Amino acid sequence: MKITKLIMIGALSVGFALSMQSCGGSADSKKEATQTEVKAASTNPYAAGEKIYMAKCIVCHQANGEGIAVAFPPLKNSDYLFADKVRAVAQALNGSNHEIVVNGLKYNAPMPQQVGTKEEAVAVINYVLNTWGNNGGTVTLEDVKDVVIDPRI
Ligand code: HEC
Repeated sequence: MKITKLIMIGALSVGFALSMQSCGGSADSKKEATQTEVKAASTNPYAAGEKIYMAKCIVCHQANGEGIAVAFPPLKNSDYLFADKVRAVAQALNGSNHEIVVNGLKYNAPMPQQVGTKEEAVAVINYVLNTWGNNGGTVTLEDVKDVVIDPRI
């Protein structure tokens, strides 16, 4: 009887030790994962903009930035985008609903307001200016200080 009890206690403590070990193990891998994330974020200066793009813009302008001809204009290689970065920031803040010509094609569907702050708008525009092979430079908060947030649609 006593021996069985001892064996049981022994088994329990082995189990306990094992579970403690696996707890320690997962805490370590969590730490590693956080370090990798921080590393990834610091090597991608457009990570914040990318997050906004994935959440808001991708549905129309598509994952490859090519949009859908005559419905949603491209952001990849867009002459309209490259021509005026401040206008692009205002586009994300206020939307638009008028005819525009992008790479020789007319677009006239409404784009609703997408973001509520200049910080977000600048982040997402810097992402699109520098993704899909775009080499469109960058825009700063200072550049857009005169943009009025006034969603048209
Ligand atoms: C509901 C669909 C939709 C969503 C979502 C959307 N857009 Fe647009 N976007 C359009 C349409 C349509 C136009 C053309 C608007 C017009 O003719 O007035 C446009 C035009 C643009 C333009 C100027 C034209 C060009 O191709 O350079 C930019 C820049 C732009 N969008 C950026 C964004 C960004 C950045 C986001 C996300 C923050 C976004 N859009 C989300 C539909 C969308």
